[in-house]
Amino acid sequence: MSRAPSPCLLAANWKMNMDYLQTLDFLRRLSILLPESLRGKGPVEMALFPPFTSLRTAQVFSNSYRLPLSLGAQDVSPHASGSFTGEISASMLRTLGCEYVLVGHSESRRNHHETREELVGKVKNSVACGMRPILCVGEKEKGRGSWEEIISQSEEVFSDLEPFEREKVIISYEPVWAIGSSETASPECIFKAVSALKGETEEKFNLSPTVLYGGSVNEGNIGSLKGLGLGGFLVGRASLDPAEFAAIFQCLNEEEGGKR
Ligand code: PGA
Repeated sequence: MSRAPSPCLLAANWKMNMDYLQTLDFLRRLSILLPESLRGKGPVEMALFPPFTSLRTAQVFSNSYRLPLSLGAQDVSPHASGSFTGEISASMLRTLGCEYVLVGHSESRRNHHETREELVGKVKNSVACGMRPILCVGEKEKGRGSWEEIISQSEEVFSDLEPFEREKVIISYEPVWAIGSSETASPECIFKAVSALKGETEEKFNLSPTVLYGGSVNEGNIGSLKGLGLGGFLVGRASLDPAEFAAIFQCLNEEEGGKR
């Protein structure tokens, strides 16, 4: 069952890491690390995005370990069902308890050459099955000082959606140059990008979307990224270590962590 959105979403994008045994071990270790006081419904919602093959393990064992975890998928088919060998549909993910799905992560855009039509199909099918798509956008090069690239990445999808579908979309601002690097975007850069994205979406679609940030977020920099008007964070590498992930969660819980 979907719960009401928390003010801050902390999403763990595991990418192609963590088989089901490693997932089980992560959950067991996280359950030891997480204090009882952080297991209730707080201001920060923790969501795991494991590989497809670990979703069922995460679903079953987060309940067994009484972990307050939501689930998301890293990708979804643009088609509802049928002869699409190797693809996973939105309804299959929903049946596994997924509440979120990543759409257009820069690694999927690059490796699968996703078209605009496919991105739109992924969003539409996810919403139709009761999930919230997280549309990833990000500029490829650092410091160009223009937000046209990210605005057009979000607009090209938003313009083909119905108003009720747009309302469900969360945007994740993920500068491509900051993903998997040793460098995160500066608070100033994030603030400007998020303001540009929100301003444009408000003007064109009369909507104020939730915007996350992703790109080398870790235990050491999370403190400086709070309070930028963000709705949360999408964390890659630093989410693979339960101790670091728990520390980020705890840090966000210390303050409100941003507003959606
Ligand atoms: P990173 O990945 O935290 O390892 O940079 C973020 C992402 O790709 O979502």
